Amino acid sequence: MGNTYDFGLIGLGVMGRNFILNVADNNYSAMGYDLDKEKADALIAEGEDTKKVNATSDIKEFVNSLSTPRKIMLLVPAGKIVDSVIESLLPHLDKNDLIIDGGNSFFTDTDRREAYLKEKGIHFFGSGVSGGAKGARRGPSIMPGGNKEAYKEVQPIFEAVSAKFKGEPCVAYLGPKSAGNYVKMVHNGIEYGLMQLTSEIYDILKKAGNFSYEELHTLFDSWNKGRLQSFLIEISAEIFEKDDDKGNGKLVEKILDKAKQKGTGKWTSQNAMDLGIPIPSIDISVSMRQISALKDERVKADELYNRPKIAAMDKDELAKWAEEALYFAFITTYAQGLHQLSDASVEYGYELDLSVIAKIWRAGCIIRAGLLEDISNAYTEDKELKNLLLSPNFVPKVQATVGAARNLVAYGAKNGIPLPGLSNSLTYFDVYTSGRLPLNLIQAQRDHFGSHTYERTDMEGIFHTEWE
Ligand code: 6PG
Repeated sequence: MGNTYDFGLIGLGVMGRNFILNVADNNYSAMGYDLDKEKADALIAEGEDTKKVNATSDIKEFVNSLSTPRKIMLLVPAGKIVDSVIESLLPHLDKNDLIIDGGNSFFTDTDRREAYLKEKGIHFFGSGVSGGAKGARRGPSIMPGGNKEAYKEVQPIFEAVSAKFKGEPCVAYLGPKSAGNYVKMVHNGIEYGLMQLTSEIYDILKKAGNFSYEELHTLFDSWNKGRLQSFLIEISAEIFEKDDDKGNGKLVEKILDKAKQKGTGKWTSQNAMDLGIPIPSIDISVSMRQISALKDERVKADELYNRPKIAAMDKDELAKWAEEALYFAFITTYAQGLHQLSDASVEYGYELDLSVIAKIWRAGCIIRAGLLEDISNAYTEDKELKNLLLSPNFVPKVQATVGAARNLVAYGAKNGIPLPGLSNSLTYFDVYTSGRLPLNLIQAQRDHFGSHTYERTDMEGIFHTEWE
């Protein structure tokens, strides 16, 4: 086997297999590698038609089969496995080869690996890939970061395999170092937020409006044709339609209400805390997955307390409010995630362009939504935009829908229907748009008990008062 293959892929699990077949569909020859020979053989069988795919479980053969500079993508679980795959590759690589980590690696791991490999003359890229198995096969959104020059080697392949939005590829070089993994991490934080919000709206529609699953399907389907158009609304409509294959009504109704997580949402919140960036809609969605895990305790507590009897709401009015409130909360959730990206970009020197990021999220990824076109335009018009809520284009959209969020949050509170994501989104909006907050009292308390000093509104300086 000569050095003939354009692209190498390590890790032939669901994502890897689909990604490499996508590469081959786009007329690039690709070599797969997996320690597990069965997976390598399965890929050879699956890719037979394309004549562009091959696979091996011999690392030396794999590396030697690739044209130089080699472009090797890893789609393996984040963590130690990435390090051990790198070590197994190293003896066989040449200077200027590229290793691309396509998994959800923690961004500081990517920085460490990039620095380590740079010493050896190897380029290392952290590149988020979003869209699940279908996306990997038919076109994901790809978020690469790293050395800009080296990216040019893989750019044509990534542009060919990525999702397209009106013909534009949903991939772009995002910035140096771990910019790609960082952006993907925040993408996932936003994903958690949008999923939480969608689940709450489903809950209130059922509990207060008595919507049947057929009605929920129809409603979400119609929303997906309007301004809420998005992958998560689209799949929710599909989910509401799905019958239980065990013959017990709708499948969603039978699914245990404990949501798992692999950590990227939690990392988003942890890092936002570290950087001092408020993202309460994302924070609460992480907490909700944690609370959901406490099923036994929740069931016990449910028996200990009475809940208000839920007053029925007019279905049409509820559906209208739900659509408006969800649109409002989607906007505020994107606003928080993008705010995090903007501040992190300064902190870590990523030089992120938020209009480009919103653009490559318009198709292929899990948080793709019609709204992202408007978001991208807002950041194109004002490159320095601090927060989406400050965009003149967004003020009327938010102004027109916040009332519905207030109505639902108030209704939920009164009737004992938890709407944590929606109320955190509303609270975020209310505090972010408050010129004056009561935190002056906190400053006074800090100064009272700890002489921590305070500033004044009417004159410059640092002050302390003997309060007693
Ligand atoms: C994507 C997703 C994906 C993520 C899953 C599961 O963009 O394709 O974000 O990368 O792994 O959504 O995440 P959790 O298990 O944390 O929910």
